[in-house]
Amino acid sequence: MYISVIGCGYLGAVHAACMANLGHYVIGIDVDESRVISLNSGKPPFYEPQFEDVLHEALASGRLQFSTDISRTEAAQVHFITVGTPQLPGSNATDMTYVDSAVSGLIPYVSEGDLVIGKSTVPVGTAIKISQAFEEAQTGAIVAWNPEFLREGFAVKDTLYPDRIVYGLPSNKSREDALSLLNKVYAPIINDDTPIVVTDYQTAELVKVSANAFLATKISFINAVSEIAHTAGADITQLADALGYDSRIGRSFLNAGAGFGGGCLPKDLRAFIARSEEIGSYGPAELLREVDSINLRQRDRVVNLAVEALSHDPKGKKIAILGLAFKPNSDDIRDSPALDIALKLKSLGANVVATDPQAIPTATMRHPDLKTERATYDALSSADLVIVATEWADFVTIDPFQAHGLVKYPVVIDARNCLDEEAWSHAGWTVIGLGRPVRKPV
Ligand code: UGA
Repeated sequence: MYISVIGCGYLGAVHAACMANLGHYVIGIDVDESRVISLNSGKPPFYEPQFEDVLHEALASGRLQFSTDISRTEAAQVHFITVGTPQLPGSNATDMTYVDSAVSGLIPYVSEGDLVIGKSTVPVGTAIKISQAFEEAQTGAIVAWNPEFLREGFAVKDTLYPDRIVYGLPSNKSREDALSLLNKVYAPIINDDTPIVVTDYQTAELVKVSANAFLATKISFINAVSEIAHTAGADITQLADALGYDSRIGRSFLNAGAGFGGGCLPKDLRAFIARSEEIGSYGPAELLREVDSINLRQRDRVVNLAVEALSHDPKGKKIAILGLAFKPNSDDIRDSPALDIALKLKSLGANVVATDPQAIPTATMRHPDLKTERATYDALSSADLVIVATEWADFVTIDPFQAHGLVKYPVVIDARNCLDEEAWSHAGWTVIGLGRPVRKPV
């Protein structure tokens, strides 16, 4: 099939390359010329494991190209909208500028019977409006909503082997045409085990934000319990393990720590709050607001633990922050708890030196005055305090004996509860977790 993909960020670029590798002819459109040049030359503009290989394979097949020229969508029969939907500055609501301009840019180039597939995360009620826009312009194009659930760090795997596929279809006579085109697009990845939920626009839109809100709620739940565990002297990790054995609960997304960040969970949660209130549904917004505030409190908890560990005098003390990305295997620093903690401690006068395997360029581009070191051991050198803020394998596997020889004071705040506490305390460290009893050196 001939496919266009409008918006080549994490979602769109990976989607375009994967679709081409499945045998489709794909034109990826983005307004950012440098991004287009980089993608056309096989260089991913962001760090995403496996993506470079997938991109090379797709470009070599001759079935994938990127362009800034939206008129090149004319040759395609199926058009994916994969543009970003960030949080509006100063508001919880979604900035729909990019979706709106993708739609108005596409309208002149679609033909009768084309399928426009929305994948961006949008407020409920968007698909119907977009469908009306295509109808008013008398394009004859059909609109479907097909939310995406890919995780950064696993984008290729999640695109090619999704847990489920959701089709939000129109209620009119175009429904069957939309269904058969979607099945044709995804034919190579649909197998007997891939559940497909066929539904209406509103449900499809809400599935996406509800999935992210549920994951956020699960994390904030365990973080709230970790506050109680801290006061009661219990161990949140063992508690989460015990909860996780209950298959109704499950162990994933029960890691207590600095909380969730990134370009999705925080802003989708806030957009959900804004949209619920906009349509007059105030009760759910209360729950989600609490989830957000528990999450932000975790960052302050880490900062307070650091200030306490430095005897309430952080000024001039060297704090080695291990991690800047919002999660491991990513260079994304959007709403990153690790970066937030680093900046807060810096603003208290501490001599913060951060390191990260991938996110130093993205972090220093935004915060040029943030001190960083490429090598973990340089960041650790003569540190008064160490904070593990992102659970990269590089940090989890640090040799605690070697690290002990580098720092001034062997005290570590494990803000992701990811270290082997026993090994670290045997190496002479004081280990302060979140919701775990403090481990003294043995
Ligand atoms: C999230 C969802 O997991 C995807 O399904 C969704 O498609 C995507 O948002 C999106 O809307 O595009 P992602 O932002 O890549 O994916 O990150 P997650 O793996 O969900 O992690 C989010 C945050 O939660 C990270 O900061 C992570 O460190 C934190 N987290 C995760 C915890 O604090 N504890 C946990 O137990 C798990």
